[in-house]
Amino acid sequence: MARLPSHRLAALLLLLLVVVSPCHAAAAAAAGGGQRPTRPKAVAMPVVRDGATRQYVATFQQRTPRVAVKAVVDLSGGATLWVDCDAAAGYASSSYAGVPCGSKPCRLVESPSCSYIASCLGSPPSPACLNRTCTGHAENTVTSSVGRGNVVTDVLSLPTTFPSAPVRQGPLATAPAFLFTCGPTSLTQGLAAGAAGMASLSRARVALPAQLAGTFRFSRKFALCLPSVDAGVVVFGDARYVFDGMDHSNSLLYTPLITRTTDRSSEYFISLKRVVVDDRAVPLNATLLDVGTKLSTVSPYTVLETSIHEAVARAFAASMATAGIPRVPAVAPFELCYDGSKVESSAITGEPAVPVVFELHVQSEVRSKVAPWMVSGANLMARADGGALCLAVVDGGAAPEAPVVIGGHMMEEILLVFDLEKSRLGFSPNLGAFGLSCSKFRLG
Ligand SMILES: *[C@@H]1O[C@H](CO)[C@@H](O)[C@H](O)[C@H]1NC(C)=O
Ligand SMILES: *[C@@H]1O[C@H](CO)[C@@H](O)[C@H](O)[C@H]1NC(C)=O
Repeated sequence: MARLPSHRLAALLLLLLVVVSPCHAAAAAAAGGGQRPTRPKAVAMPVVRDGATRQYVATFQQRTPRVAVKAVVDLSGGATLWVDCDAAAGYASSSYAGVPCGSKPCRLVESPSCSYIASCLGSPPSPACLNRTCTGHAENTVTSSVGRGNVVTDVLSLPTTFPSAPVRQGPLATAPAFLFTCGPTSLTQGLAAGAAGMASLSRARVALPAQLAGTFRFSRKFALCLPSVDAGVVVFGDARYVFDGMDHSNSLLYTPLITRTTDRSSEYFISLKRVVVDDRAVPLNATLLDVGTKLSTVSPYTVLETSIHEAVARAFAASMATAGIPRVPAVAPFELCYDGSKVESSAITGEPAVPVVFELHVQSEVRSKVAPWMVSGANLMARADGGALCLAVVDGGAAPEAPVVIGGHMMEEILLVFDLEKSRLGFSPNLGAFGLSCSKFRLG
């Protein structure tokens, strides 16, 4: 007796659904330029490393009709996504819109102002040529050059699966009005071939993490898995970190993300307490470390202030000498290089099995405790010309912007989870220790 009404209800609902669905579909098509509005839990942005520049290049889908756009991953200070919108660069889209001067989104970009133009000099209106439009800074953080351009919105899509099928174009999540800045063509100088701009992962309000979280209503959180070979990924939102069927979500160590009052707060800093080589703390100027350690994908290698570089190199050289590994002449930009043929390779990963235990002791989530960031041979050493294997750190001079900058090479094939809600960074060991790599990440 209780079942009959629910049967009827189901039939009624079915009828309603049949009647309602055509206009529902039409509304969705009208709203999203043909794409169904989506509310994914997480989206993935594939990343590869460019061989020539060692920059990490991300791919996303943008515009109408949709095209794949490449931009250099900017985990440093950049404020937003910027791309070259000049007509000559081939920006073509029916879905872009200028951001009005003085509007709320306009106030979120760096150095906003308003542009008035007399004409587009014969070219049709485009994102690069709009009247009475908000303009803002676009920064090439590789070359430290800044340009100005229009602030516009356009459709931006990212796959909800990884790896995403490049031909079939698997399921995509679409942000109908993703805000970005147009950079002039000249600003792309110094970027990897094919890159049209830079995709900022900073904590700025209009950088990718916050903007995607706002659009899709997921957490302000992203995971960065930089590739040394094959494919890497940036995963935005609430994902389980599954590699080859194994969930690594609960096997991370955490360190607080700190804000430096002396600096632009959109960069990521952690608190490095000491550098430990073969169980001995390297004697360092603690005052310098207190400034904070920066994470940057724009720096290919880890950069150390001169006195820190000297002390770390001395400790490392002593350990290598004890292990009997012969030194070879330095190969720029590195100082300490060794005969690669005398260093065994790991049976699992093929990476150099350096006979030195190198650890970064970072602040743990528990006050007064440290968390060990074990730097594996793959992250510590770089292969240079002539078979040399070099300590992959460089001297940043006596007064660098930050005394320690952890660069891309030291972050490769590691799962790094930037949790901006909880203001903490989760890190895994090098995935090679589990026979894994970033390319084994699976989403959806
Ligand atoms: C741009 O806007 C200004 C102010 O409204 C106007 O004077 C000017 O003619 C406009 N330019 C174009 C190309 O429409
Ligand atoms: C440590 O670094 C600080 C900041 O650069 C500097 O003022 C101080 O002189 C350094 N101390 C030593 C012992 O070198």
